[in-house]
Amino acid sequence: MLRTFAALNSKGGVGKTTLLANLGGLLADMGARTLLVDADPQPSLTKYYDIPYEAPQGLVEVITSGTVTHQAISHTAVANLDLIRSNDGEAKLQHWLFDRADRRVRLARALNNPYVHDHYDIVLIDTQGAIGPLQTAAAFAADTLISPLPPDTPSVREFRSGTLRVLQRLESDTDEPRAQLAPIRAVICRFDYSRDAKSLLSELRNEFSEGDRVTILETVIPNAIAYKDAFTARVPVHTANRIGGSRYPSAYEVMHRLVWELQPDLYGYFAGRLKGDPQEVFGGAAQARGARDAAVPTPAA
Ligand SMILES: Nc1ncnc2c1ncn2[C@@H]1O[C@H](COP(=O)(O)OP(=O)(O)OP(=O)(O)O)[C@@H](O)[C@H]1O
Ligand SMILES: [Mg+2]
Repeated sequence: MLRTFAALNSKGGVGKTTLLANLGGLLADMGARTLLVDADPQPSLTKYYDIPYEAPQGLVEVITSGTVTHQAISHTAVANLDLIRSNDGEAKLQHWLFDRADRRVRLARALNNPYVHDHYDIVLIDTQGAIGPLQTAAAFAADTLISPLPPDTPSVREFRSGTLRVLQRLESDTDEPRAQLAPIRAVICRFDYSRDAKSLLSELRNEFSEGDRVTILETVIPNAIAYKDAFTARVPVHTANRIGGSRYPSAYEVMHRLVWELQPDLYGYFAGRLKGDPQEVFGGAAQARGARDAAVPTPAA
């Protein structure tokens, strides 16, 4: 069954594109047929990987025609990883959508077509760090919302008062038919294992517990140069950083754990289409250890 994830956060620069590019890279490497959709007018996801085949069309045609055809499918240099590129340099889609009665469901309907169902297992939609009609359309197209969340006070404040409030408002907009959004999975990213970051994470875990609309994922993405280097080298980070440091687990481990948490039926699948026992490969819970340490309240200084 097709799964659709959209990365959303009302704050810019939190790590949405990095996260989706790397999730897409690993999912494809595990054998899942993966489609990236770049719904940010600044085409960062489009530029992340090399594109050996650039399709004549992109997101503009998908949204305006209301459907996806092969004409809009570009191929990235990663096998199994395709892309609907962002070709809306002047950001006209926001206005175009705003004037349409079906603005909320336009992207959902375009993606929910036989071409997409026949060719893909996973769709990952990237958005711009703000809220507007295009982000709303991406949110309503997803069955899971992923929100990268750096554990620093401004980002956490913006997550609570910006992202979450806007999403709630979307659901109760009196000008629109009532509609429920998908659950929100917040991914702690750029975690530096500092005392402040651990205490913020602990607060967040207490605030949003299992079963809520908002869940804080167990897997935490470290603040590590490997993620920047992979961006520069235009490769999925799991292929570039396989050995962890003394403080940080490897990107190979982090990205696997993240995929398994988001897509549990892939548990035990590894990059290169390998299968194995995660406990044996990664030991007990090296990555979760960081998260569990972080969940213990920090003693007062
Ligand atoms: N885990 C990480 N560790 C270190 N650096 C990171 C990490 N994740 C992202 N970055 C860096 O942070 C910067 C912003 O990341 P990214 O472009 O993914 O954010 P974004 O949310 O997509 O931003 P925008 O809102 O502008 O689209 C980039 O330089 C990226 O390399
Ligand atoms: Mg981005």
